[in-house]
Amino acid sequence: MAHRVLTGIKPTGMPHIGNLLGMYRPALAMQDHAEGYFFVASYHALTTMRDPDRLRAQTLDVAANWLALGLDPNRSVIWAQHDVPEVCELAWILSCITSKGMMDKAHAFKDAVAKGREVNIGLYTYPILMAADILAFDSHVVPVGKDQKQHVEMARDMAQRFNHLFGDTLVIPEPKIREDMATVPGLDGQKMSKSYNNTIEIFLPPKKLRKKIMSIVTDSKGVDDPKDPDSCNVFRLYKLFATAEQQAELASRYRAGGLGYGHAKQALFEVVDAQIDASRDRYNHLKANPDEIRDVLEDGASRARTTARSTLDRVRSASGL
Ligand code: ADP
Ligand code: TRP
Repeated sequence: MAHRVLTGIKPTGMPHIGNLLGMYRPALAMQDHAEGYFFVASYHALTTMRDPDRLRAQTLDVAANWLALGLDPNRSVIWAQHDVPEVCELAWILSCITSKGMMDKAHAFKDAVAKGREVNIGLYTYPILMAADILAFDSHVVPVGKDQKQHVEMARDMAQRFNHLFGDTLVIPEPKIREDMATVPGLDGQKMSKSYNNTIEIFLPPKKLRKKIMSIVTDSKGVDDPKDPDSCNVFRLYKLFATAEQQAELASRYRAGGLGYGHAKQALFEVVDAQIDASRDRYNHLKANPDEIRDVLEDGASRARTTARSTLDRVRSASGL
């Protein structure tokens, strides 16, 4: 069987540069030597979203991000999760062999409880649906940011348990985390996340991108003061985009004094914009032609369903259904 790499992203907002560095780029780089299975996690988004028009629009937007950033639908498969309902069937079967104790340990659920938010059953069993996503497509490698590592480990546990109970049926997946990009900081220095309102969206028009970058939180040191690059949110982001030489140069200007945070932000804007610019036209084209996105998703869903159906056949037969 070909080496298969799979990952997904929820359409709960516009994809941001944390998603770009932590997930999109590492995942898309694997297209060259593996079979890529990439999807929009719309069922997962429904654990929190209540606005149907937004869900529909953001599903297309996340797909446009995948395609603009280099997903090649001739080599890889892309689909919207809800177009392959087989994953719900697998999620049910996995839920029958998964202990409640495992779900009690899941971060997403624990965070929601800690923040006093309403916990629905979908959020509680989120890792089971995610395991079904991974296992239904016989995935070998799952590139994700660090925050998703626990979920991929749970998927491994579920696959091992199923195989132990019913014989060798499911492929055991491996998480793949780029340690250097593990957690990209947001505007306020916390992890960049759609849930924290601190994101820099990937495909903002240049003016808006610049404005967002100018709003990164810094300390109140004056222009002339020497500054510590390593404790600065602007520099932490700069490091993720700039070459080693560019980093060394900006770091020495920080330390020397005479560099205002506005200058550092401008330097950050320039490196980010230079890397996004080439894909932005393609993104704008897709946004203006949503039927093109829909066609690609439809074709992907039919290919993904064929794969999922064959896994489900094995799972049903192994478990006695
Ligand atoms: P968000 O936290 O903004 O809702 P998602 O949960 O949809 O993002 O994450 C999609 C993918 O992007 C996951 O693989 C996740 O690990 C990765 N990711 C999200 N935020 C970051 C970040 N700040 N740094 C690195 N990777 C991230
Ligand atoms: N839970 C992931 C996130 O919040 C999205 C996701 C859903 C996913 N199913 C997946 C990621 C399967 C990798 C594999 O980012």
